[in-house]
Amino acid sequence: TLNGTPRSADVPERTLLADLLRDTFGMTGTHVGCDTTQCGCCTVHVDGQAVKSCTMLAVQADGCTVTTIEGLGANGLHPVQQAFSQCHGLQCGFCTPGFVTTMAAAHATGETDFDTALAGNLCRCTGYAPIIRAAQAAAHAPVPSWMVERPEAPALQSRDDIFCPRSPDELAQWYARNPEATLIAGGTDVGLWVTKKMQELGPIAFVSHAEDLRQIHDEKDILRIGAAVTITNLMQAIRPISASLHQLLSRYGSPQVRNAATIGGNIVNGSPIGDGSPALIAMGARLVLRRADERRTVNLEDFFIAYQQQDRRPGEFVESIELPKAQDRLRCYKLSKRFDQDISAVCGCFNLEQEAGVITQARIAFGGMAATPARARKTEAALCGQPWSLETFQQASSAMAEDFTPLSDMRASAGYRAQAAGNMLIRYFHDLQETPVNIREVHP
Ligand code: FAD
Ligand code: FES
Repeated sequence: TLNGTPRSADVPERTLLADLLRDTFGMTGTHVGCDTTQCGCCTVHVDGQAVKSCTMLAVQADGCTVTTIEGLGANGLHPVQQAFSQCHGLQCGFCTPGFVTTMAAAHATGETDFDTALAGNLCRCTGYAPIIRAAQAAAHAPVPSWMVERPEAPALQSRDDIFCPRSPDELAQWYARNPEATLIAGGTDVGLWVTKKMQELGPIAFVSHAEDLRQIHDEKDILRIGAAVTITNLMQAIRPISASLHQLLSRYGSPQVRNAATIGGNIVNGSPIGDGSPALIAMGARLVLRRADERRTVNLEDFFIAYQQQDRRPGEFVESIELPKAQDRLRCYKLSKRFDQDISAVCGCFNLEQEAGVITQARIAFGGMAATPARARKTEAALCGQPWSLETFQQASSAMAEDFTPLSDMRASAGYRAQAAGNMLIRYFHDLQETPVNIREVHP
């Protein structure tokens, strides 16, 4: 349902949503700038949430409600549009539709952290001050009623080469019969295979259509997180369990990326610099893998075998993640060149227990230090049984060199990574002593 009207078109499965909107439906207010999910000018609403249409496949929006900048202003200017105009929030206008659609989605939820809401939108000429002023000016205006009463969209239908499972059972049976198929959840990785690698996808299954895979169940000591839970929804569930992980996830991509990307997709892509896996490994998470009716559970750290190689058999998918709930000593630190919307150079996650001043258990995991997300087992061993003191942490940080031989790349040199990882361990000690360690908390 596009801007309130049911629309249909027959498109190849590789067609991107931005191209469908512009070329087929003439909605040219949706701009394409970077084509890599970075700049935000292609932002539209899908089922009320801001997403980037430049890497989202058009078929992912089948059965959804889509609102473009044209739809936003169709019933008179949206308050955010009015404010952008009054506060001089636009000049050349290229990035403006993306800023306005992103801000309108945030406005509908009452969000007032505008820096975070707009972290995925880049402006090259207006400058951010008038844009933020516009966001502030619109903050208290009522949400237009048509945005609150979104029409129900028709259910997505499967076709020859596209399978839309309604349940994990349907997905399990179909994928066991079609193990060569591409599973797509949020498509934030797979979309780039299409736009950048020109890759053919073959048969596709959209795992996010299986409702149960999008659920989070509270099961006493654990949270059972469906593989297709988005990072945005995971953040809400994590907030009461670990403020530190919530903070880490708030720097994961941008709101548009977090609204689409799923935790299952983040784990299965196996990126050595992903943020989800180090944190979940430090928390002691387990993966539930499923093929047809057969399920098995593995510790997340054992899922990663080597670079781009995981312990996943043909026809097997991630069904859920089991996450222990007691996590008040978990701390997650992300170092990246840019604060917002940047992949980690090093992501370190620490979870240590102590009794009567002695360290009894240690789970430490890193991204950016090896070919896969990995535990720092030698460092953990150097800590366990030792007194909880700065000296212990300083000594143990030298064991990091035995755990990892990091690489130099465009994000960081090997030397920087090694030093930063050691320093993060010391930071953890100070953090748990309640000494401010975040640059945003340190005041002269
Ligand atoms: P998809 O693209 O749908 O799939 C990814 C892979 O997982 C595919 O191989 C797919 O077949 C497979 N898959 C999906 N679901 C399942 C399942 N249930 N079972 C088996 N296989 C499955 N990542 C970070 O960690 N931190 C960041 O800060 C960050 N920033 C980003 C910024 C931008 C601009 C972009 C484009 C990406 C960023 N990413 C970041 C990476 C990306 O968002 C994640 O890896 C994402 O979580 C992938 O999830 P998805 O649902 O979009 O996966
Ligand atoms: Fe830049 Fe889509 S065109 S994010």
